[in-house]
Amino acid sequence: MTAAIPVPPDLAGHPFFQYRNNVLYAEDVPLDHLAGQLGTPLYVYSRAALRAAWNTYHSAVGQRPVLVCYGMKANSNLAVLKEFARLGAGFDIVSGGELKRALAVGADPARIVFSGVGKQAWEMRAALDAGVMCFNVESEAELQRLSDVAQETGRRARVALRVNPDVDAQTHPYISTGLKENKFGIPIGAALDAYRSSRLLPGLEVTGLDCHIGSQLTDISPYFDALEKLLDLVADLEGIGIRLSHLDLGGGLGIRYSDETPPSPKALLDGVFQRLQARGQGHLRLVLEPGRSLVGNAGLLLTTVQYLKHGEARNFAIVDAAMNDLLRPALYDAWHGLRPLLPRAGDALDYDVVGPVCESADWLARQRALVIEQGDVLALESAGAYGMTMAGNYNTRPRAAEVMVDGDHYHVVRQRETLDDLLRGESTLP
Ligand code: LLP
Repeated sequence: MTAAIPVPPDLAGHPFFQYRNNVLYAEDVPLDHLAGQLGTPLYVYSRAALRAAWNTYHSAVGQRPVLVCYGMKANSNLAVLKEFARLGAGFDIVSGGELKRALAVGADPARIVFSGVGKQAWEMRAALDAGVMCFNVESEAELQRLSDVAQETGRRARVALRVNPDVDAQTHPYISTGLKENKFGIPIGAALDAYRSSRLLPGLEVTGLDCHIGSQLTDISPYFDALEKLLDLVADLEGIGIRLSHLDLGGGLGIRYSDETPPSPKALLDGVFQRLQARGQGHLRLVLEPGRSLVGNAGLLLTTVQYLKHGEARNFAIVDAAMNDLLRPALYDAWHGLRPLLPRAGDALDYDVVGPVCESADWLARQRALVIEQGDVLALESAGAYGMTMAGNYNTRPRAAEVMVDGDHYHVVRQRETLDDLLRGESTLP
């Protein structure tokens, strides 16, 4: 047993979530108040944190020709999308559903790129009708289908080919996408031929080149390795008379979950433009698709301790959030910071923080030194990205509510799901 330090001293990665007088706040709202009003599990976002993250990109861009398309799979709540639309973001979408969300907040279709390895015809049609800027196409078969669908609708689809540059992003294997073993993209060696074929397809207009090598990158060099390969391809394409207007480097910049020091948008952009200029490609417009780095540290997941179970091998804190609310620990062995809203003095015990779902994989944090009691509310940190968007209903658990804090105000931006919501659409046999 160790003597507890009531208030953890360093919340450096999370400046919008800080303790005041031993109470954890989101901006100017005390979180125990929110948990009391709205219940738990509860996702809490900070509007100021979203804006600050956007500003790191915006100021890094400066006057350079860059379109930042928010990768909305990280967090597609309409309030989050609207905030980024107001700030001038474009959007990276991967489904007809995400297109609907983007259009619902008034996003400019000319700033939407449509990614994804399995686009269906109806999704292509909807995106063509909307007039999206570009389809990021991942196979020859998809090129053919897109051309057919575009012709049916009497339009031409602007396309970039997503190539797989075969570089190691040095991240978790489940979120690494740029190796030749991954399902994503057209192998870079086959790209020239794919461009040749796309030129012959009447429904297409080739405008760009795309790649995305992985997520939660904490090292910048894989980006530049990929970029050099892409620039070789751009030169080869010019050799056969194909001149592109944009280059999309995808998303992937990491965030600080514990002690990572991920590269900044400025470091990335400076390095990219330096290489573009060196290779005589300064005319290319750059597209980025950041998701996690715009929202990850703008959100917390609040959860209440239901039971403490002290055992021989382990102590468990059984909480009301579970793997259906935050899947990242179960799926990727991911580490999320964990802090009590109202820290207690006392002797800390090591706890595994687990949910009520009937799976051993249902854990949220392991071996954390905590001073807690039944009924205490805990905050899981860095839960703004790939939290709610990956939530599900396993064990017939309603999904959490979401709330956006703005200064000393808050807005419920998604109601807690009800049990009736969960049964809707089902029926028994006559
Ligand atoms: N563009 C494409 C084509 C992508 O596939 C992704 C993410 C992004 C952009 C945004 O990447 P970001 O900037 O967020 O790294 N569920 C995992 C992450 C999966 C990422 C999938 N693709 C996690 O919770 O870590």
